[in-house]
Amino acid sequence: MCQAGAIGWSGHFANNAQWRMIPGMSTSYGHFDDARREYVITRPDTPMPWLNYLGSDEYFGLCTNTGGGYTFWRDAKLRRITRYRYNNSPLDTGARALYIKDDSGLWAPMWKPVRAKLDRYECRHGMGYSTITGAKGGTEVETTLFIPPGENVEIWRLTVRNTAKTRRRIQVFPYVEFCLFEALNDMTNYQRTYSIGEVEVEDGAVYHKTEYRERRSHYALFASTRKPQGFDTSRDAFVGVHEGMHDAKAPSAGACTGSVAHGWNPVGAFQHDLELAPGAEETFSILLAYIDNGDLPKFDAPFVMNKVKGRALIAKYSRKGAVDAAFAKLHAHWGGLLGTFQADSPDSEVNRMANVWNQYQCMATFNLSRSASLYETGIGRGMGYRDSNQDLLGFMHMIPERARQRILDIAATQLSDGTCYHQYQPLTKKGNAEIGGDFYDDHLWLILSTCAYIKETGDRGILDEQIGYADKAGSKHTLLHHLETSIAYTLKQRGPHGLPLIGHADWNDCLNLNCFSTEPNQSFQTAGDVKGSKAESVMIAGLFLYATRELAGLYDWMGKKAAAKRLRGNWADMKKVVETAGWDGEWFVRAYDAAGKPVGSKVCKEGKIFIESQAWCVLGGAGAEDGRARQALESVHKHLYTSDGIVLQTPPYATYHKELGEVSSYPPGYKENAGIFSHNNTWIHLAWCEQGEGDRALEYYRSICPAAHQDRHDTYRAEPYVYAQMIAGRDSANPGEAKNSWLTGTAAWTFVVVSQGILGIRPDYPQGLEGLHGQAHLPRRDLRDHGEEYRRLGLRHHARDGRRQGHGRRRGAGVQGRHEAPRRGRAALAGLRPSPRLIMGVAPLAGCCCRGCATAPRVLTGSDFADFDLAGQSRYPQGL
Ligand code: BGC
Ligand code: NOJ
Repeated sequence: MCQAGAIGWSGHFANNAQWRMIPGMSTSYGHFDDARREYVITRPDTPMPWLNYLGSDEYFGLCTNTGGGYTFWRDAKLRRITRYRYNNSPLDTGARALYIKDDSGLWAPMWKPVRAKLDRYECRHGMGYSTITGAKGGTEVETTLFIPPGENVEIWRLTVRNTAKTRRRIQVFPYVEFCLFEALNDMTNYQRTYSIGEVEVEDGAVYHKTEYRERRSHYALFASTRKPQGFDTSRDAFVGVHEGMHDAKAPSAGACTGSVAHGWNPVGAFQHDLELAPGAEETFSILLAYIDNGDLPKFDAPFVMNKVKGRALIAKYSRKGAVDAAFAKLHAHWGGLLGTFQADSPDSEVNRMANVWNQYQCMATFNLSRSASLYETGIGRGMGYRDSNQDLLGFMHMIPERARQRILDIAATQLSDGTCYHQYQPLTKKGNAEIGGDFYDDHLWLILSTCAYIKETGDRGILDEQIGYADKAGSKHTLLHHLETSIAYTLKQRGPHGLPLIGHADWNDCLNLNCFSTEPNQSFQTAGDVKGSKAESVMIAGLFLYATRELAGLYDWMGKKAAAKRLRGNWADMKKVVETAGWDGEWFVRAYDAAGKPVGSKVCKEGKIFIESQAWCVLGGAGAEDGRARQALESVHKHLYTSDGIVLQTPPYATYHKELGEVSSYPPGYKENAGIFSHNNTWIHLAWCEQGEGDRALEYYRSICPAAHQDRHDTYRAEPYVYAQMIAGRDSANPGEAKNSWLTGTAAWTFVVVSQGILGIRPDYPQGLEGLHGQAHLPRRDLRDHGEEYRRLGLRHHARDGRRQGHGRRRGAGVQGRHEAPRRGRAALAGLRPSPRLIMGVAPLAGCCCRGCATAPRVLTGSDFADFDLAGQSRYPQGL
């Protein structure tokens, strides 16, 4: 098990070259520190702000490498704690700031907002925390920002050092700008918001309580564990009306004014005056909390809020060691989460992404779906139906209990006819119709997430959970009923070729075959569709094939033979349709438009071949026997693959086609118009795995893997440690430039690709309804070529039982088995794959620990491998 190095509070500069601000001189902005599971940014002027997320439960902070970003509780729209101005210039200033005033004047140790030249700068983005250190003129300030697991408080732990030879006065001014909780109103309705802001100040702590008197029971708290010498709560007083964040009035003058905000823009700001001897340092913490008073008495006196919980929080973190203990807890938390899956491969980029950053990104997408990032404002999109189902695929091994609840929440936004709300708000868990709907793929993704969850956990009970349909108040139906309703809907909604209707669009939100929009003031997503249209989607057909096979497998496991047989019949019927009406000669057609013309066909002038139908038809089993599956993938290779990734389609649309919609509205090479949409690349990776082409899968995997491209930050621009939704394609003006990093389905699917497809660790249904299950899917060629070594090394199988093995966890209903070679063994195994042809595995382990290791892990011996089918076929995802 790879362990991160112990995280201390200081000494981060030890091996770090000094940063010097020489514009244009360096193309290197940072590097991975694998032992500490950190990305180290060595200069602040990154090509774009490089983001990290604080928090992993309910309270979240966005934190860039210069301390930018905002904080919210559960829902970035309805419970926004601090303000952020997207689309601003300069980017990424406002919500948080930390100023220093000393004998070198006013400066900021996180560089922004002052941007004074620093003597040293370093940002370490780690698992749930960021440590940003800046030094100037004999003062060094190290700030670690984090949210302890399970708590609604963002902590900034500050250490201020006097590295000069004289005793010095150093002033520290931490600052936040509050959002008045409801973010949309906050940024649009100033005739109201400029009159409602309210705060209280008690013992130097700022309580932001806008609207508390009426309908809210919550407030935000900004406090310091060190008694401040001054405070401000009015932005006009602290920053000024005509000044900017870079020359804010109060810190420039070296004095807060004690302002109390009434309306306008409430802020929290403190003045700390430190006197430090040469070499001395002082540490204290700033707290930014969200507190709900729940059923407590609301007021202590008229207009005086009950602050008992806030005081308790300040007292808790003012106790010696409390902040350090909270940080240690965070560190242990992530150690545990990542400990569930760790792999050794000969490829260090694969390892660092699969073992650390990819899983870390999966936590972000699970929590935030597509709601809050530097590209998603927190106001536009909540939790996506199809997005969340896919995000679950990369998350459920970490905290299956939360995955379970999410599946039930998602299912509850399905309607009784099978369609779904496309999005829901995390706070209310209610479907949100405002952003559009009628995507006829949505419901099928629920089958994928549910089956994956049951394979991971053995928790068959989830299928019996009673969940209503969103349009039938008080209705109760099992989750299994929801899955059946999903299948039935696609079967019912079919077009002239027998293919599924597309509705407003399928996974490709921009393939709007029914909206015919010509009105510039319309959003494509909400434009509405012509009634009775017969436009069809081959991609949905492929997804349907995949989903029916998954569900049939589940029925097999449950012993429901008739239901499994029925689904296999549906699969076979749809497969026939796909292989005839869906086949174009060298690849699968993408769709048929409302006039019945093919989209993504050789007969088209533009958009001749698309990714999505190739991926899903192959993954669903179409063309498996007659070579078409392979031919479709070879066509992807020939027409769509580039060294930066696979473009979504080609040739791009040069003109707007109203019968195709938004897909043709983007400039060529961007987004769905021939951009490299990383998310759908991953399905092709998986499809190559299925073909047994591990080398190609790995090559493709590396093409979009940010860690594999450390040499091109200036072109790529986005964070090098997480996937971006889109990389501009070869037809664009800026090929290779990434946009929309962090919140993308690429995270989950890449984890599926690397863990299940490439490394071959694939959960499957427990054998029997109880007990442990484990099934190794080992690289086929490795087994064939290196069976002897495997035997010699022995593979140790053990339950995921943290108490016994020191990592992992015991699961509720079914306990998941896990396979790994002993440490020494794994290293040696890794060595077996210098040029890995890594494919999904072949054979269930004979005498596997499914039941045996419930009592004790054991080392397998040669005879355990007797039944290995070394030349066997991949068991995944074979014909039914
Ligand atoms: C984008 C899609 C996105 C959709 C919904 C479109 O403009 O291109 O990627 O999913 O909007 O927000
Ligand atoms: C982004 C959306 O979040 C996702 O659901 C969609 O499938 C892709 N865009 C492709 O349009």
